[in-house]
Amino acid sequence: NAPDNHLRPNYHFTPPAGWMNDPNGMIYHEGEYHLFYQYYPDGNKWGPMHWGHAVSPDMIKWEHLPIALYPDEKGYIFSGSAVFDWQNSSGLGTADNPPLVAIYTYHDMAGEKAGRDDFQSQAIAFSTDKGRTWTKYDGNPVIPNRGVRDFRDPKVIWDADHSQWVMVLAAQDRVQFFGSPNLTDWTFLSEFGENARNHSGVWECPELFPLTVMETQDDAWVLTVSINPGGANGGSGTFYFPGDWDGKIFSPRREAIFSPTDTVNWIDYGRDNYAGVTFSNAPDGRRTFMGWMSNWNYAQVVPTESWRSAMTIPRDLSLHATDFGTRLRQQPVEELKKMRTKNLPLDFPRIGDGVTNIDLSELGTNGAYEVDLTIDLVDSDATELNLTLSNKNGDVFYRIGYSRARGVTNAFFTDRRQAGPTDFHEKFAPESLTVAPRWSNDGELRIHAYFDRTSAETFFDEGDPVMTDIFFPEEPFTMLTLEVSGSSGEGMPEGWSLVKGDIW
Ligand code: FRU
Repeated sequence: NAPDNHLRPNYHFTPPAGWMNDPNGMIYHEGEYHLFYQYYPDGNKWGPMHWGHAVSPDMIKWEHLPIALYPDEKGYIFSGSAVFDWQNSSGLGTADNPPLVAIYTYHDMAGEKAGRDDFQSQAIAFSTDKGRTWTKYDGNPVIPNRGVRDFRDPKVIWDADHSQWVMVLAAQDRVQFFGSPNLTDWTFLSEFGENARNHSGVWECPELFPLTVMETQDDAWVLTVSINPGGANGGSGTFYFPGDWDGKIFSPRREAIFSPTDTVNWIDYGRDNYAGVTFSNAPDGRRTFMGWMSNWNYAQVVPTESWRSAMTIPRDLSLHATDFGTRLRQQPVEELKKMRTKNLPLDFPRIGDGVTNIDLSELGTNGAYEVDLTIDLVDSDATELNLTLSNKNGDVFYRIGYSRARGVTNAFFTDRRQAGPTDFHEKFAPESLTVAPRWSNDGELRIHAYFDRTSAETFFDEGDPVMTDIFFPEEPFTMLTLEVSGSSGEGMPEGWSLVKGDIW
């Protein structure tokens, strides 16, 4: 019973002990979701990278499995992906028992220390027993390095339109695409990114996948890229380009009209969602995303000792035609409803006639709450809403807000400056709040948040924007406070109507 176990989330994935960063090799296969992850089992800071491994029937309850890939004489095992080679195109399985193939980066530490530039290369490993054991391919690397210092994080998909495997790879602050008939022989296809924002950091963990635009039924592609530094609210973050893919070249759609304050499409505006990718081969055409719920700014010094980091909840992605161009939306997966226990319906008609305190301690869920509010913004001239989750006294708290100060801003913010210790790193809780634009101009505002002891993931409106933050209060939060301010009160009701409100 480690002294920091009280800081463990209740249902988010965490490593059994030691250090974790990026999710890797996410794939659905024969009834199981596989999650591999960047893992250093012997320490609580980043170190020689392994692929840790877990499986789940529903992406919520995870079973830890033995480490899948250990570092070897070719290097540490960096981030990558996994595919089901159902036609045994690689010849690494048999026609009757085709293999799972993992594609990862070798990071040759000695090469880096020696000052060489070619220390990262792409390699594969395979499994013919449902991912239980893995064999490294004896022809590794499958893509050697030709002198690009940052050359990593292969994500592979089957491109059915062009009958080829496609790999997208981070190469400094660009991505490169490679094609292959068999996962072992790869041909360079193209590079993307020179003229695309943003370039304030190195690009990592890219992914390319198809998705249909819901409103138009138009087939599109999405390229996601993680960047460090340069995230929406500092440090590491993930952005995306809606676009088209012709089997060789990715063309971003230029129709995007950005909000005045924003020139990049961010997957998440919180500080803690990085290196996320989607499950390969998910059933029913689902495109389900999970990220690493931390930030390279401070991940290695957060106040847990025996283990470090959690993954985000899984989120289903969908693509939409909006006033701001083609945009991704995220919804927490349906499977999360299983985590609901007792329902606390909020049956008062209006928030803002003063402060509303809701005692959550009776739910007895150790700081895990789902909060879902729909608020009518039209019938009042109030300007700011605060939703605060706190301890009993209200002096340790995490706050989510919406502000529309007389047409000047139409934004969401989160505030963790008093949500527990912050002094372990100056960039953890700077004075500037975490902010996100509101994209919707709907008169109804939805705030759907998942709290899990040491984290908050808030899906605004229809799942765009999303804000994910971590925090480390010593005691679980047990009180929810709703407050509306800024109303002039001249003929208008004080607060906003609560159309619907539920807590679980
Ligand atoms: C992203 C990253 C990847 C790399 C891995 C190493 O967080 O830097 O680019 O493969 O972590 O652990």
